[in-house]
Amino acid sequence: MKSTSIYDTFNRPLRDLRISVTDRCNFRCPYCMPAEIFGDRYEFLPRADLLTFEEISRIVKIAVQLGVTKVRITGGEPLVRQNIEELVQMIAEVEGIEDLAMTTNAYLLSGYAQKLKKAGLHRITVSLDSLDDTVFQKMNGRGFSTARVLDGIKEAKEAGLQPIKINAVVQKGVNDHTVIELAEWCKNNGHIPRFIEYMDVGTLNDWKLQEVVPANEIVDLIGQRFPADPIVPTYQGEVAQRYRYRDGQGEFGVISSVSQPFCGDCSRMRLSPEGKAVTCLFAESGTDLREWLRNGATDDQIKQTIVGIWGTREDRYSEERSEETVKRKKVEMYHIGG
Ligand code: GTP
Ligand code: 5AD
Ligand code: SF4
Ligand code: SF4
Repeated sequence: MKSTSIYDTFNRPLRDLRISVTDRCNFRCPYCMPAEIFGDRYEFLPRADLLTFEEISRIVKIAVQLGVTKVRITGGEPLVRQNIEELVQMIAEVEGIEDLAMTTNAYLLSGYAQKLKKAGLHRITVSLDSLDDTVFQKMNGRGFSTARVLDGIKEAKEAGLQPIKINAVVQKGVNDHTVIELAEWCKNNGHIPRFIEYMDVGTLNDWKLQEVVPANEIVDLIGQRFPADPIVPTYQGEVAQRYRYRDGQGEFGVISSVSQPFCGDCSRMRLSPEGKAVTCLFAESGTDLREWLRNGATDDQIKQTIVGIWGTREDRYSEERSEETVKRKKVEMYHIGG
């Protein structure tokens, strides 16, 4: 089927679909799912509310006809959704997808990586904020140590799920003293670390600007230890600013959504576990597609709905961020994924 590009009100095309397959996670990172709130009694979405794999792949097929070439499976934690490799396979079979990635905390990856590769996953991005066990235990909110995560990463590398990117959210006074150690480990193991400015996503983390370590400080810090030069972006809308080490041994990236927002090129749409199309990480809500999926709508009707959503899109939250916007109602990160 032929694909046509669609553009929003700022002339940004739709290229990238990020699918959150569950609102559950086995971690309780305090900046995302604080354990005090997400305790034993917390009610996650009931199973019947989640889009089925068939429903998700139907949306993917329609999105590809509207210009999507990149798909990322995320969560919550995508590996807690049963048989996720079946969804991977269904998406991998859709013609027109050039890049199929998954963001995971890798705690369940060991023993799974090979299966995911066989199903057609191209690569993974692992959320790993620190290699220091004490820091990591605190940052995952569950006291888990890094060993299982590192095993999972090793298996993913052996399975060929590459390049492996390692995402670390940097919080001042929490893990900023472990940035170099993580950069060095990635350099030695052929992974690409990306240091993310701590953002005011969601409403639960009591975000403060003082807790953000600006990306240029991270670039300076790493550059002093391992000299590096900026690389030109590989594609329009690339989120990370990349730096290549002068010794030729790898690269690192920084994601500066707070200090240098990148809304200008944002071509990402997000699909929530219960089927809402969300056009910004900081949106107040999304547009329900599940209703259409379950009420017998044709592909064309669903397509026209997405055309309408994208065509009226005006989001540029990170560029507008202010004391007032920080307090706005927003979707939660664990719900729609990074
Ligand atoms: P690649 O496809 O590997 O280039 O990945 P990516 O650059 O899309 O990045 P990834 O999905 O790994 O996202 C990394 C982090 O960047 C996320 O966890 C978010 O914290 C942040 N991020 C990603 N997309 C957006 C976005 O659209 N807006 C903002 N503000 N932050 C984003
Ligand atoms: N700021 C920046 N990144 C965040 N993530 C979750 N919450 C935040 C935040 N407040 C990241 C996770 C993971 C990805 C899914 O989103 O660490 O890498
Ligand atoms: Fe889970 Fe990722 Fe949120 Fe941590 S940041 S609680 S690993 S979804
Ligand atoms: Fe895109 Fe919204 Fe992020 Fe800006 S803040 S880059 S519009 S998702």
